[in-house]
Amino acid sequence: MATMSGQARESVVVLAVEGLSIHYEMRAATVRAVDGVDFELRDNEVLGLAGESGSGKSTLALGILRLLRAPGRVVAGSVRFGATDLLALDESALRELRWRQFAYIPQGSMSALNPVMRLQAQFRDTLTAHGERMPRAAMHARFVDVLQGVGLDADLLPRYPHELSGGMRQRVCIAMAMLLGPRLIIADEPTSALDVISQRVVLETLAAARKAIDASMLLIGHDMALLAQVTDRLGIMYAGRLVEMGETGTLFRDARHPYSRRLIASVPDVRARREFQSEAMDSEPQWPLDEPLQEVAAGHFVRPWGGGYDS
Ligand SMILES: Nc1ncnc2c1ncn2[C@@H]1O[C@H](COP(=O)(O)OP(=O)(O)OP(=O)(O)O)[C@@H](O)[C@H]1O
Ligand SMILES: [Mg+2]
Repeated sequence: MATMSGQARESVVVLAVEGLSIHYEMRAATVRAVDGVDFELRDNEVLGLAGESGSGKSTLALGILRLLRAPGRVVAGSVRFGATDLLALDESALRELRWRQFAYIPQGSMSALNPVMRLQAQFRDTLTAHGERMPRAAMHARFVDVLQGVGLDADLLPRYPHELSGGMRQRVCIAMAMLLGPRLIIADEPTSALDVISQRVVLETLAAARKAIDASMLLIGHDMALLAQVTDRLGIMYAGRLVEMGETGTLFRDARHPYSRRLIASVPDVRARREFQSEAMDSEPQWPLDEPLQEVAAGHFVRPWGGGYDS
């Protein structure tokens, strides 16, 4: 037999999402927030998910992690983490997996730090809450290690969150996510609350911290320029559907779907981004979304929208 090649190793699927649909069922209406989404995340891979506000990115992340709250509900599909069917797992097995195997950096996470607790106590709680027992000195060494991994100094440990800048707080959240050495990181707009310069630095920090532990990452964002820097592949979401997916370089060179093109052409500026939040979920989608994705080149998938691929 041939030796295990790099390619064979790359093809290990860490997360497989198939036909996932998530609805918010309310009295007046049902929001089909995620509609038949399929993708795979491979070992050591960074997959970006981009799309305007309301396209279903956070709902997808919450669905994968089984953190949806009512009225949100998975109505179809499957989510597998390695051989484990996440949607079938009971709560206690799921708790074991969360943090130890997955790290979730939620949208606006830096405001989730406890304001009246010193950072070291929050780090300690995170470890002990997940059943990690180790001597104090080893624990401290671990904290120092993850802080250094995000470019922060250990002398921050006795500080309170309000003593830190927004960028530093967000790095603390990233460090916390790394504490248990997760296999999968899901980061939902980890930098959108920061100024433009900190965004870049913090995202680079996250990418480096991920690489150091060989985790796979699903990275959600609006900003195509930032996503381009750290992702291997990109999926473009529109109205709860993936409309295009492919290698990041391919998408930037050769995006086919008009929505992807618009997103790539949009200016990564906070004000411009707000204006870009569109109407998709509030009115009729601008493009037909019902035809299955087509593979237009190896690994490059596009949803037919009724126009030619060269338009
Ligand atoms: N708790 C909820 N109850 C009802 N509808 C919801 C709820 N959360 C989200 N939605 C709806 O589901 C759709 C997808 O929302 P979601 O937050 O997943 O989008 P998003 O792509 O993460 O947007 P953003 O970029 O603003 O974070 C939207 O139409 C939203 O209004
Ligand atoms: Mg969101």
